[in-house]
Amino acid sequence: MIMMKPLFYLSLIILFFIHFSTTVAQPAAAPAPSGPTNVTKILEKAGQFSLLIRLMKATAVADQIDHQLNDTNNGMTLFAPSDNAFNSLSTGTLNSLSDEQKMALVQFHVIPTYISLSQFQTLSNPISTNAGDSSRYKYPLNVTSYGNSVNISTGITNTSVSGTVYTDGQFAVYQVDQVLLPWDLFGAKPPAPAPAPANPKKKKADDVDDTTLAASGDLSIKVAMQNVVLFGLAMVAATMFSL
Ligand SMILES: *[C@@H]1O[C@H](CO)[C@@H](O)[C@H](O)[C@H]1NC(C)=O
Ligand SMILES: *[C@@H]1O[C@H](CO)[C@@H](O)[C@H](O)[C@H]1NC(C)=O
Ligand SMILES: *[C@@H]1O[C@H](CO)[C@@H](O)[C@H](O)[C@H]1NC(C)=O
Ligand SMILES: *[C@@H]1O[C@H](CO)[C@@H](O)[C@H](O)[C@H]1NC(C)=O
Ligand SMILES: *[C@@H]1O[C@H](CO)[C@@H](O)[C@H](O)[C@H]1NC(C)=O
Repeated sequence: MIMMKPLFYLSLIILFFIHFSTTVAQPAAAPAPSGPTNVTKILEKAGQFSLLIRLMKATAVADQIDHQLNDTNNGMTLFAPSDNAFNSLSTGTLNSLSDEQKMALVQFHVIPTYISLSQFQTLSNPISTNAGDSSRYKYPLNVTSYGNSVNISTGITNTSVSGTVYTDGQFAVYQVDQVLLPWDLFGAKPPAPAPAPANPKKKKADDVDDTTLAASGDLSIKVAMQNVVLFGLAMVAATMFSL
């Protein structure tokens, strides 16, 4: 019995320290459970955003968001296109973009303020995104909202928020089922890859982008016109010789 007493006191002391250290550690740990916000981790956990994650890594926009979140008190908002959204783009849509344009495309989905679903009603269009040098008129993104329904329009893409992936009062991630295509990158181009040009001089269609294809479309019209003219001349000549 006497031998048990020191053990009893020792366990009391240990219990005291365990209690003390947990109560002291808790207030610091509670608001941010796992350190600084990591957008990649959030999207990985949500699933079905692997193509967005890949694009965000390739363009370094993932790091940009994490740093910006750490540096700002305004919070941030991300419209996250699902894998289905990327898969439903027409073939070559992303490949037609330069690295800089790909970055602008991803930044177009990032709003440099935290916006809760109900706050969408209070915004004035077009809203600011991280694309386009902070000029919200360069890459316009319009939002119309009523209740919890939020419609988004870029002039090319019309879609709506289909769900909240994440929100913590500082960072919000909303799922969209279409990639938001900025007018500035896609407005002047044909919506789908142009059909293969009829002009034999432009046979290497594999390694040309949509702009070249569009231009060669014009060219083939010119060639067709020339053929009409030549045909007309041949007819005139034939008629003259038959006289
Ligand atoms: C964010 O999370 C991803 C995946 O979970 C990880 O690869 C990356 O290193 C994390 N970034 C930071 C800055 O911790
Ligand atoms: C977050 O910001 C603090 C200072 O504001 C800085 O010391 C820290 O390195 C930053 N962390 C990251 C992950 O950027
Ligand atoms: C959003 O779009 C849908 C379909 O186009 C429409 O029925 C709805 O009224 C729109 N909502 C708002 C708030 O504009
Ligand atoms: C976006 O909103 C602005 C301001 O209301 C308007 O002038 C513009 O036409 C709208 N664009 C689209 C694509 O809805
Ligand atoms: C997008 O919606 C607007 C009305 O909100 C409509 O005028 C426009 O034609 C739609 N565009 C597309 C590509 O569906």
